[in-house]
Amino acid sequence: MKIQGTHYRTIWPVGTGANARVRVIDQTRLPFTFATIDLNSLNDAADAIRTMVVRGAPLIGATAAYGLALAMRDDPASLAQAAATLKATRPTAINLAWAVDRVRAVLEKIPEPNRFAAAWAEAEAIADADVAQCRAIGVHGQDVISTLAAKAGQRRLNILTHCNAGWLACVDWGTALAPIYMAHDAGVPVHVWVDETRPRNQGAFLTAFELGAHGVPHTVIADNTGGLLMQRGDVDLVIVGSDRTVANGDVCNKVGTYLKALAAHDNGVPFYVALPSSTIDWALAEGGGIPIEERDARELTHISGQTSTGLNETVRIVPAGSPALNLAFDVTPARLVTGLITERGVCAASRAGLHTLFPEMSNE
Ligand code: MRU
Repeated sequence: MKIQGTHYRTIWPVGTGANARVRVIDQTRLPFTFATIDLNSLNDAADAIRTMVVRGAPLIGATAAYGLALAMRDDPASLAQAAATLKATRPTAINLAWAVDRVRAVLEKIPEPNRFAAAWAEAEAIADADVAQCRAIGVHGQDVISTLAAKAGQRRLNILTHCNAGWLACVDWGTALAPIYMAHDAGVPVHVWVDETRPRNQGAFLTAFELGAHGVPHTVIADNTGGLLMQRGDVDLVIVGSDRTVANGDVCNKVGTYLKALAAHDNGVPFYVALPSSTIDWALAEGGGIPIEERDARELTHISGQTSTGLNETVRIVPAGSPALNLAFDVTPARLVTGLITERGVCAASRAGLHTLFPEMSNE
C-alpha cells in the first residue's frame, strides 16, 4: 500500500550474502513517526516480534521466517534452537509457528552450508504468498460488501472493525481491511467505525493511519461504543481479522472481538472474519485450547501519545497500587460468526464449511 505516494510492504529484504537483512516499518512509532528498522540477526527478529515493532499474525509469521534465515547465515547448526527462540516470542498467533515449521521442514533436508540461501528463499515465498492471499481475501470480501451495499442503496455502508487487520498487520493489503480498500477503490461509499482497541490502541494508531493514508472515510470510536451504534442501525457489517482460527471455526482475535460478535448477533448485524489459511490451526478442535497471551500490565496502567508540542509522552492512568490484568486476545465461538473470508472464498465458520474450501485438510 502507499504512504505519501510511495508503495511499501511492511517487510522487505535489503542487501545480499553476509550483508543480507530485512527492513521493517517500526509500528511502535506510528502514527506520529514513520520510521524503518533493519533486522540483522535472529535476536533482532525475535525482539521486533516480542516488542511489537512488527505485529499482526501474518507479519509476525513473515518476520519469523526471515529471522530463521538470518540465524542460518550466522550459525547453520542452530536450527532447532533458533526455531524455539522465535516460537517463544508470542504465543497466540499461529502464523508464527506455522512459518517457523514451514522453513524448518525445508532446512532439515538441506546440508548446513546451503541452509541460509534456502531459508531466505522460503521466507521470500512466505511473504509473497501472504500478499497474494490477502489480495484474494480482498476480492472475496469485496463481494460481501458489494452485496450489502446494493441493499443499502445510495447511503454509505458502515463497517465496524476491531484492532488492526490491515496491511500493517500483514505483508501488504491486510485481511479485514483488504475488502474495504477494494470496495472503496471500486466506488462503494464505505465508512469504517474504528474501535480504538485498548490497551495498545492498534485501531486508533494503526487502522486510522492506514485508512486515512488511503482516503477511506472512517471514525475512531471507544471500544464500548459499537453496541450502541448497532442498536441504532448504524453498523451494516463487522469485519475483523484473526490470530488463530481452529478446526471448528472458533476465532481467536484481539481482546474485545467476542463482545463485538455478541452485540452483532443480538442486533442481526453480519459478523465476518477475514483470514489467510496460514491462520488456521487444523490441529486444535476448538477455541478453548488456544493459548491466550498475557502482556505486561504496564500497557494497561499507562498510555502513550503525542503532546501538542510534538513530544511523545507516556503517562500513568491507573492508581499506582491497583493491579492490572492485560489479556491480549479472546475467542469468539463459531456460532457467532456469519462467515470466514479466506483466499479461497467465503465459507461457514464450521468444520464442514472450512472443508468445502480446504478439502485436502478433511483428514486432519
Ligand atoms: O497484538 P497484535 O497487534 O499482533 O494483534 C493483531 C490482531 O489481533 C489482528 O486483528 C490479527 O492479527 C489479524 S491481523 C491480519
